[in-house]
Amino acid sequence: MWEKNDIKEVLVTEEQIQTRAKELGAQITKDYSEKNPLVVGLLRGSVPFMADLIKNIDLDIQFDTMDVSSYEGTQSVGEIRILKDLDTAVNGLDIILVEDIVDTGKTLNTVKNTLLHRGAKSVKICTLLNKAARRTIDIKADYIGFEVGDEFVIGYGMDFDQKYRCLPYVGVLKPECYEK
Ligand code: IMP
Repeated sequence: MWEKNDIKEVLVTEEQIQTRAKELGAQITKDYSEKNPLVVGLLRGSVPFMADLIKNIDLDIQFDTMDVSSYEGTQSVGEIRILKDLDTAVNGLDIILVEDIVDTGKTLNTVKNTLLHRGAKSVKICTLLNKAARRTIDIKADYIGFEVGDEFVIGYGMDFDQKYRCLPYVGVLKPECYEK
């Protein structure tokens, strides 16, 4: 069972995220005018943020989802596995990949290369959070909600062992919760 008092600190509130999603949506609308990008959300973490974002993109867009896995608990296990693939053929499409958080960058690098290899015309990245200090792969997000430091965060789609995803804010877990 998760408890609200597992949360050490709220880092980003729902209001801040919604304001930022409006700004990013407006920027994407401007950058992709005359285009019809496919928004691809990586399951499950991107779902709450993607839902906010797509409502603020004033273009004829479609969205799809993909599920890849590389994490166990708080640790990246290196290899990326595709657990659920896209239902859309991406050949010739402009793609906006939506992520909850970019950490080492391995997940997005692999997914981006996979989509380009399949013939996507362009692939840009939009992430709610960016943990730049932890990057091991040289990959940059094109649209960033908020920068965060090197701490494990949960909420607004992000989990620890599948818990806390549905919290309406981004928070930091108390360290003792990792050992539970
Ligand atoms: P990367 O491949 O190392 O960039 O990891 C990206 C994925 O790792 C994200 O989509 C999250 O699922 C997970 N992740 C990385 N850091 C955190 C965190 O602080 N909290 C929750 N999930 C995280």
